[in-house]
Amino acid sequence: MDRMGETPVPTLARVFPASLKIGGVEIAPATVLAPMAGVTDTVFRRFIKNLGGCGLIMTEFTSADGVLRDQRVRGRYLHFYEDEHPISAQLFGSSPSVLADAARLVEDLGFDIIDLNLGCPAKKVVKCNGGSGLLRDLPLIRKIFEAVRAAVKIPFTVKFRAGWNDDEIVCVELARMAESCGLGAVALHARTREQGYSGNARWEWIASVKQAVNIPVIGNGDIRSPEDACAVVAQTGCDAVMIGRMAPANPWIFRQIQQYVSGATGVPARPEKRSSAEKMYDEPTEADRYQMIRTYFQMLLEEEMPGAEGKMKQFASWFTHGIPGGAALRKAIYDAKSGAEILERVEEFFEAKLPVQTA
Ligand SMILES: Cc1cc2nc3c(=O)[nH]c(=O)nc-3n(C[C@H](O)[C@H](O)[C@H](O)COP(=O)(O)O)c2cc1C
Repeated sequence: MDRMGETPVPTLARVFPASLKIGGVEIAPATVLAPMAGVTDTVFRRFIKNLGGCGLIMTEFTSADGVLRDQRVRGRYLHFYEDEHPISAQLFGSSPSVLADAARLVEDLGFDIIDLNLGCPAKKVVKCNGGSGLLRDLPLIRKIFEAVRAAVKIPFTVKFRAGWNDDEIVCVELARMAESCGLGAVALHARTREQGYSGNARWEWIASVKQAVNIPVIGNGDIRSPEDACAVVAQTGCDAVMIGRMAPANPWIFRQIQQYVSGATGVPARPEKRSSAEKMYDEPTEADRYQMIRTYFQMLLEEEMPGAEGKMKQFASWFTHGIPGGAALRKAIYDAKSGAEILERVEEFFEAKLPVQTA
């Protein structure tokens, strides 16, 4: 209650859930790093986790068929370290028995959660009926849900798009089916397959799903700031937020959400009293950015990650937007011939800007 004993004041901490439980797995804070092929390998996941504020990390999507047939696929996509718990492995495929076998493998490897991908719009995945291709075949999805659920004890979740297109929206039906088949949570990327990544995510679909089921609902799509994270929770009632593309562009976003909802920077958590210029979370300094990019690149090189050089270049292009002089750094990184040289270019760039910190 406020001082007058009138209506309760809706602080952000009250709006945003502190944690959620998926089966017996506690996720705190209620934030999830979205699975991203080519991005969320073990290095990126640990890097995000070390920066703080992320409650659950997920692997890149992994072919159920591939992990069963090929040891190298397993090593590359399902390798994780102890400090990554809680961690969820995401599988894609269309055969209930193959997915069930792959789920057993995932459980034996020690993952906390297994997730099924029903959202990938990539043609080569959809052609084999995987990813969002399955959204047009709910009876097959039910068989997969049942087979995987029966195969493992760990919590089983699904990440899906709202439907194939605007005329075939299935998210509510699918979420109900997931609940009735014993899944522990659902994550909705609030776009259709046909939309790809265009247009805006339609958070109203997340609200509809939340109203339809009692298992936790994770909201995903176009959450680009702590303000967005609170807005999606306030508008939909979802139990957690999942963040994809913003994570490589602003790896501090999870920590910022935590600061924002708890008022940890000392600014009162009263959105209605806040001026638009007032920030309720820390913005990274140049020195933080330097430290961050150097740490991530060093981790990539130490891990001897396949394609480390390409990943450094890709990450640099996301990350350097918004840095003064970022275009010059991007060019220097793209022209570099090895991972070690990329790191040198980064060091040169920031040393010129931060002579005191790096001397
Ligand atoms: C490069 C990239 C790779 C992705 N790979 C996957 C994936 O492996 N599995 C999956 O379920 N979604 C994948 N997605 C979708 C994201 O998990 C997320 O649903 C989508 O980007 C929307 O969230 P955002 O607006 O926070 O980025 C990928 C997205 C991007 C940009």
